[in-house]
Order: sequence, then C-alpha cells, then structure tokens
Amino acid sequence: MKKLFLVLLCLAVAGLSFGQTLIGIAMPETHVQRWVKDGNSLKAEAEKRGYRAEVQWGNADQNQQNQQIQSFLTQGAKALIIGNINTGVNSVVREAAKDKVVVIAYDRIIQDSKDYDYFITFNNYKVGTLQGQGIVKGLNLASATAANPKYITLFAGSPTDDNANFFFNGAMDVLRPYIRSGVLKVVGPHPDSAKDKANFNRIATEGWYANIAKARMENLLNNEARNVTLDAVLAPNDTLARAIIEALKADAKYRAKLPVVSGQDAEFDSIMSIKNGEQYMTVFKDTAKLAEAAILLADQVLKKQKVSIPGAVLASGDLKAIGNTGAKVVITYLLDPISVDRTNILVPVNAGFYDATQSARIRQ
Ligand code: GAL
Repeated sequence: MKKLFLVLLCLAVAGLSFGQTLIGIAMPETHVQRWVKDGNSLKAEAEKRGYRAEVQWGNADQNQQNQQIQSFLTQGAKALIIGNINTGVNSVVREAAKDKVVVIAYDRIIQDSKDYDYFITFNNYKVGTLQGQGIVKGLNLASATAANPKYITLFAGSPTDDNANFFFNGAMDVLRPYIRSGVLKVVGPHPDSAKDKANFNRIATEGWYANIAKARMENLLNNEARNVTLDAVLAPNDTLARAIIEALKADAKYRAKLPVVSGQDAEFDSIMSIKNGEQYMTVFKDTAKLAEAAILLADQVLKKQKVSIPGAVLASGDLKAIGNTGAKVVITYLLDPISVDRTNILVPVNAGFYDATQSARIRQ
C-alpha cells in the first residue's frame, strides 16, 4: 500500500511539473548583492502565478549563462527572463526566438539583437541624475565658488552594460554646469558623456567588480589625486561605492572626512554605510516590484493578453533610447528609482526591501 502511495505521489508531482509552463530565469552574477534578491523574487512571483520557475546565476560568465539558458530551452521553457552579462547572450536569444519562446530583457538591455521584443527596467537615466543631484546636495554646490572649487573623480559601471552609459550620462547632465562654471573640477579621466568612449572606458569597471574599482581608486590616490583632496566620487553602484570607500579610508588624508560618494541598489551594507556616515547616498530600485512586473509581463504575453503593467511606464520620447538595442527599439517598461540618503533611509525599509534582522539593524 505504502509503495503504491509513493508511486502515485511521484506521478502526481511529475504530472504537476509536467503540466506547468516553465519560465527560465537567468541572472548575471552574485558578486553584486542585488541579483541574488532579484532571482529569488522572480522565482517566487512566477510560482505565485502558477508557473514552474527555475533560476540560475551566471557568475558574470556569459558562456556559463548561455549553458543555463540552453538548459531552460531543453526543458521546454516558454519564457525567459534574462539579466545578461554581454552580447554573447545573443546566440541563445536567437535560438529562443526560433522556438517562439518569449524573451524579456530584465534590467539590462540585450544589445545588438532584434530577436526579442520586451525590456523591463528602471529609468536608468534618472538613476544617474539622482546620483548627480546627490553629489550637488552633498557638496552644497549651489553655494560653492570657482575661487574655492570642489574636486571630484569619476567612476562608471561595466562597459558591457548599456545601463552604465545611462547612469553616467544622467549624472553628467546634472554635474556639467558646475564643471563648466569652474565650481567643480574633475580629477582623473573626464569623459563629458558616455559618447567619449576612449575616456569612458578609462573610468568604466569591467564586470562591476569591486576589486577593479578599489585598485583604480588606490591608483588615483597615488597619482592624479595625490596632491589634491577629493570632495566627491561619482560611484555608479553600491558594490563599487563600498570598494572605493575602502581605498579612501586607507589614505590618511580621508581618515577624518570622506568625500561624498554616490551609489545605487540600496544594498543593506551600503544603507548601513550611509547610516554610519560613510557612503553619502544610494538609489533605491525596488527590485521586488521589478520582479513582480516582469512576471506579470511574461504572463500577459504568454496568454496573448493586452500588456498593462501597473507601476511601470511605457518608455516614450527621449526615454525610448533606453530600449534601443542597436538593432531595434524594443517595447520598454520603466519603473521609478528613488534617491536615498541619511534623511530618508527608511524608504527601502518601509518598502519591505530587507529581511527582519536587517530592517531592525537599520532602524536602530
Ligand atoms: C546594472 C544594474 C545596477 C547594478 C549593476 C551591477 O545593470 O542596473 O542596478 O546592480 O548592474 O550589477
């Protein structure tokens, strides 16, 4: 009897998973804290809507992620949610398109591809403007003078991540008037925008790796920034911000006071750094909401329903550029980022972005 029960149970589970539509979730990396949370949120949201979901992280290795995506396709996935690492992903996106699998680019556009139709992300240009505005606020640039200029050095995200261009351009559009008036001086490479590829690549951080940013900050402190006291560092996300701060803290010049350092992702470690007066600000992107929106989008497309994503706006006007893959402009939905500094540090806490232990520590 017991054996029969076990056989029936296995058949039921197999039957359940057999009947359920599989959504494959391919996240880029785990060395940036947020992607762990994204993958888990996407899986939970997919299962809430009755899908079978499998999530894999690509360890910032596109070949590894491609193998993971191939495995999803072999298992018969009907939709893929992909946070890619670089354009090496395009070969498996093309395969998915041939199998009529729905592909949604998640928070990172899949560049140089015309084989998919949807991209869901945040307003990444606004992320950059919020970083620029944080630096303006932190330095009180509104009342600074060219006679007593403030000094900034610039970092950008990975050169393979199109988001990095929008972050940088947004920040520079805010900072440029202060640079032009002489109130703010750039120490080190100074691309005016991401279009200046040669100089942009000198400030970019391959793979968003913290150790690369830390080494570059140490190099600046021993060279271009040796005979000047930096007042700010444009850091494009929290992982890099914390690495840059580590390098600054090792320099006696900054033991008493750190420069204003920007960030992004409202990672717990950075929220604690902001609370402790080290990192100056971050940009909160509620990736729980992004995950919910991405799965809703997949669900509606799979069911051939009219797409309507509450809490997201369809990119239009200049913002359509965020959805330009270089081969076509894909349908792009944008969620809104929020600037967070010491004055509103509970915004991500109240949004339920952290676990109970973390929330209690931030509230202390
Ligand atoms: C970007 C993303 C940022 C940041 C970065 C590092 O694509 O938009 O939020 O997390 O990756 O992984």
